[in-house]
Amino acid sequence: MIDKKMQDAINDQVNAELFSAYLYLSMSAYFENIRLRGFANWMRVQAQEEMLHAMKMFDFVIERGGRAILKAVDAPANEWASPLAAFQAVVEHEQKVTARINKLVDIAMELRDHACSTFLQWFVTEQVEEESTAGQIVDELKMIGDAPSGLFMMDREMATRVFLPPAAPQA
Ligand code: FEO
Repeated sequence: MIDKKMQDAINDQVNAELFSAYLYLSMSAYFENIRLRGFANWMRVQAQEEMLHAMKMFDFVIERGGRAILKAVDAPANEWASPLAAFQAVVEHEQKVTARINKLVDIAMELRDHACSTFLQWFVTEQVEEESTAGQIVDELKMIGDAPSGLFMMDREMATRVFLPPAAPQA
């Protein structure tokens, strides 16, 4: 049975992951609006990944005999000054998520909840990738600067991202 302190902290993180999904879906709408459909696709896939993160945590709380409690999700911003500003906001957001995940690991260690520590390791690794990917996109956007041809090429590349749902467990 999961400790109430751990349960509440993971439930809060479910909310944070759902907010992330909401934020990236809002960014997808922003990119649609400025006709960068590849970037919009990338953000849509990112939102799907965040939903997956939320569901992993939701399922974990239930699997451990806890109670998943859902709270109101804050409204995200819906306008950014430029594609670069949007991706800088992604990096800042993911850094905050990483700090939150690290705090969850601290709680799991304090409670000597080894099952939870192991479960959270997936998120620790995932955050390294999330920060690195967003950071690379910021670097590329800085290199492109105001060159529309560079943005056009990058948009085509961003259009190729697809959401890969996790494989179903073997029966
Ligand atoms: Fe769920 Fe972007 O971390």
